[in-house]
Amino acid sequence: MQTNLRLLMLLLITLITPMTYAKDAKPVEPTESKQNAAIATAHPLATQAAIQILKQGGNAFDAAITASAVLAVVEPYSSGLGGGGFWLLHRAKDNHTTMLDGREIAPLAASADMYLDKQGEVIPAASMNGAKAAGIPGVPAALVYLAKEYGQLPLQKSLATAIQLAKTGFPVDDFYQKMTKIRLSSLQQSPAASQLFLRDQKVPKIGTLIKQANLAKVLEAIAKQGKAGFYQGEVADKLVKQVQAAGGIWTKEDLAQYQIKLRQPVQFQYKDLKITTVDLPSSGGLVLNEIFNILQHYDLETMDQAQRVHIIVEAMRRAYRDRAEFMGDTDFVSVPSQRLRSKAYADHLIKTIQLDKATPSRDLPLTSHSDSQGKDTTHFSILDQQGNRVSATLSINYPFGSGFVAEGTGILLNNEMDDFSSKPNTPNVYGLVGTKANAIEPKKRMLSSMSPTFVENEQRFALIGSPGGSRIITMVLLGILEFEKGKTADEIVNAPRFHHQYLPDTIQLEPNLLSEKVQQQLTNMGHQLDQKTTPWGNMQLVIYNKQTATASAASDGRVIGQSQVLDSSLTKRR
Ligand code: GLY
Repeated sequence: MQTNLRLLMLLLITLITPMTYAKDAKPVEPTESKQNAAIATAHPLATQAAIQILKQGGNAFDAAITASAVLAVVEPYSSGLGGGGFWLLHRAKDNHTTMLDGREIAPLAASADMYLDKQGEVIPAASMNGAKAAGIPGVPAALVYLAKEYGQLPLQKSLATAIQLAKTGFPVDDFYQKMTKIRLSSLQQSPAASQLFLRDQKVPKIGTLIKQANLAKVLEAIAKQGKAGFYQGEVADKLVKQVQAAGGIWTKEDLAQYQIKLRQPVQFQYKDLKITTVDLPSSGGLVLNEIFNILQHYDLETMDQAQRVHIIVEAMRRAYRDRAEFMGDTDFVSVPSQRLRSKAYADHLIKTIQLDKATPSRDLPLTSHSDSQGKDTTHFSILDQQGNRVSATLSINYPFGSGFVAEGTGILLNNEMDDFSSKPNTPNVYGLVGTKANAIEPKKRMLSSMSPTFVENEQRFALIGSPGGSRIITMVLLGILEFEKGKTADEIVNAPRFHHQYLPDTIQLEPNLLSEKVQQQLTNMGHQLDQKTTPWGNMQLVIYNKQTATASAASDGRVIGQSQVLDSSLTKRR
């Protein structure tokens, strides 16, 4: 990020936060605890605001509310009140771990063929752009629940910085510009969106302040009235009116009946690691479990690079195949989770893997041919001084979601309906295919790849996750493999990435990942390589070393995020 922009952000933080944050700030109240707090988010303003909340006596859950709300304001391309997400929570005092599911749901008037034409073909971009692409948002309900059941501070306090930033604005940086370019034509279609996020229908200049007065009012309504501030009354009326006027199908009943869900996380063991992650409607947990069950059978450490990539790719291919075939919202469909997670199933799968030859995905039937950009969504990881943990991934799906803002609300709507399978075996924007298990049904949650995760062994634990569409799961997988090798937070978030998702049948490679020789070895095995020119992901990681009682954190060097460890001497003890 440019230096003058960093300075502007620093100035903003100083103006909007009541407490000092500089490294040499005076201790708020010395603590005897050795536990360090640490935060990593995708935006410096969110990290700083969440750190302030910890300093003001909030816990990790309050800080998670703050981070979610600030990201909703300053990363409108990634997440927001008009979107959804998963918060993986661990409360230290009673060793309680749960998955807070604030995923969007399909509107009551939704139907399996709502994005198909009369011939039964998918109408291009119908599930991507405009009001009809939006599911019923879950983020506001999730934040209210988090505050009520887990937080220590009132929402007025944890939402204060987000409200202030929405009023005073945040400066456009080059990443904002990049994301806006991707969705320019969609944003131009919505008068309220173009007024907020563009200038004269064009990408705003660096340093332009993006102010969102109406969004500030909605955040204030949530702070005062809780869930009703969004899902009922004036805000809900405006949302429904504007959505319907723009061809969408939301009703007041849709908003009034939205409920978060609490789910049992998926837990499994890989070598000495205990991995805790999300269950359906995110496919992340099952896919990771399946991949790691396969990898248990191989000694990856003794393999050369080509062999190692080959085996990991073959595991990815098979797990993503099963994602396409079986996975969906378990409130609606029956998913053979236990079988997919079983060692017996992994034993069966490894028999189909050849050590020196790629298995063409066409031999594991289903078809698709799309590429995935994976630039959407956001992730943050928070550890507080009491040992509470939050790993959260939030989304409005593609950059700037549907590109539609409901006039008078400042709410940018998601286009998460594209995560459903609009037609069996027809790829969505990420190239992912699906079957009936992920077909559209009223009130159903669309299948996700968001994978906020905890990983732990005797020495350390980590809170890990990333945005990146279909590539989220493989990024978390590669991150865990690096953690297992004892790598530092910095090394893990910046490690080069590769990805295979069954279809398209290619190994996607980050620039400069593999030498010519290794690429040739993989090609000789029958793999098709898709050498990308730009890297992907935006991993946010916190690690706690149990032996030294110190925390570390890192934000992906590929993007603009910021991590910070809060020295225990600067934190307030509760
Ligand atoms: N919208 C991306 C995901 O949930 O996987």
